[in-house]
Amino acid sequence: MNTNFRVERAQLSDLAQLVALERATFNYSCISRRSFKQVIESQHNFCWVVRAGKELAGYAIAFTRRNSNLWRLYSIAVALNFRGLGVGNLLMNEILDTAKRHAAKGLSLEVKSDNKAAIHWYQNCGFETVDLLPDYYDDGSDGFKMRLTFYPESQ
Ligand SMILES: CC(C)(COP(=O)(O)OP(=O)(O)OC[C@H]1O[C@@H](n2cnc3c(N)ncnc32)[C@H](O)[C@@H]1OP(=O)(O)O)[C@@H](O)C(=O)NCCC(=O)NCCS
Repeated sequence: MNTNFRVERAQLSDLAQLVALERATFNYSCISRRSFKQVIESQHNFCWVVRAGKELAGYAIAFTRRNSNLWRLYSIAVALNFRGLGVGNLLMNEILDTAKRHAAKGLSLEVKSDNKAAIHWYQNCGFETVDLLPDYYDDGSDGFKMRLTFYPESQ
């Protein structure tokens, strides 16, 4: 397996692999090809991919907000055969670096309340649970809102 990872902004030529990775990862609220395309073409939002040779090892999407300097980590996924190799951390570092460079004050995200592995990882990355979101997902399950604030000591 190629573990020579490169993080970069997604291109339209990644669409087929992005959709395949999304469908293989999530059985709820899947991001459509059209939505991926909109994010890739957007001036205000970000889609990064991690490449391993010709394979797509993972992706992440972050949204900026017009009236807030809190960015939203909209989605992050690593292909099953590339998990546990640092790809998620690579993506997270890219998101955090980019958000800081753009003077964001932090990031928020929503996660399914039963996704213990992701919640644990987000906590390790510095996110805190700030809200319960009842009935948040298509299948009726609850979510948590989590937040990471940069430089909280200066606020
Ligand atoms: C959550 C996810 C993005 C993490 O990506 P990853 O590439 O596997 O993570 P990494 O290899 O970078 O590891 C990140 C951390 O999690 C730990 N970790 C990785 N796999 C693990 C596992 N199976 N069990 C426990 N810990 C694990 C690593 O030790 C690492 O810890 P560290 O930062 O202290 O070193 C990935 O598991 C995934 O795509 N999950 C399914 C999609 C999902 O749930 N997305 C979030 C929806 S909100």
